[in-house]
Amino acid sequence: MCQQSFFTGVKACMFDAYGTLFDFNSAVSRHRGRLGSAADSVSALWRTKQLEYTWLRSLMGRHADFWQVTQDALDYALEAAAVSDLELRNAIVNTYLELDCYPDVKGTLEKLKAGGLQLVILSNGTPAMLEAAVKSSGLTDLINGILSVEEVGIYKPDPRVYGLAVDRLGLQAKQIAFMSANSWDAVGAANYGLRVAWVNRFGQRRERLPSQPDLEINSLAYLPTLLGVDA
Ligand code: 2OP
Repeated sequence: MCQQSFFTGVKACMFDAYGTLFDFNSAVSRHRGRLGSAADSVSALWRTKQLEYTWLRSLMGRHADFWQVTQDALDYALEAAAVSDLELRNAIVNTYLELDCYPDVKGTLEKLKAGGLQLVILSNGTPAMLEAAVKSSGLTDLINGILSVEEVGIYKPDPRVYGLAVDRLGLQAKQIAFMSANSWDAVGAANYGLRVAWVNRFGQRRERLPSQPDLEINSLAYLPTLLGVDA
């Protein structure tokens, strides 16, 4: 699909949260001094288990919210690294409420908002987690709405999650452009029928799954030009 047709008729820009707007590695980075050489492996395993638990719980029909899943995954990762400091564990998990956003986020959202687009988040996160991250990264005035999987009680990439956006925004699927850096999330949204730009921040390979994103970019910074709002 050419880039122009991708954005024709788009009324809302919807963003995944973790990995797309918010840098999940920044939680562990702030405690790098105390974690030492284990920091990078803890951060990577934490994210891997966090996502696996969302998929497994959805398949098992045993939903628990993302705050619980995030803590369970961190506990797994810390145990794997033989870190048993409870005070450090609690400090790391609380940092997840004040993650840094990626450098391309704020300027891009400011331009999109000035261009009259509605800006929304659709995430696995709980409303409280997402509100905290939006506030701490200074995005409160830019985000029009936060949609959490808690409203449907199942995780991405279940089609009910993407359907929530259509219901809540009162738009057709093709009027919503969804941006995610998580390749499997981009695939899930495309499978539902949203217009999807995969923000391939991490230089990953294309997923071998049914449905593919409409567009691949490596930074959100391309969006204002692609949407014709780059003043
Ligand atoms: C999110 O929903 C997938 O973690 C990602 O924010």
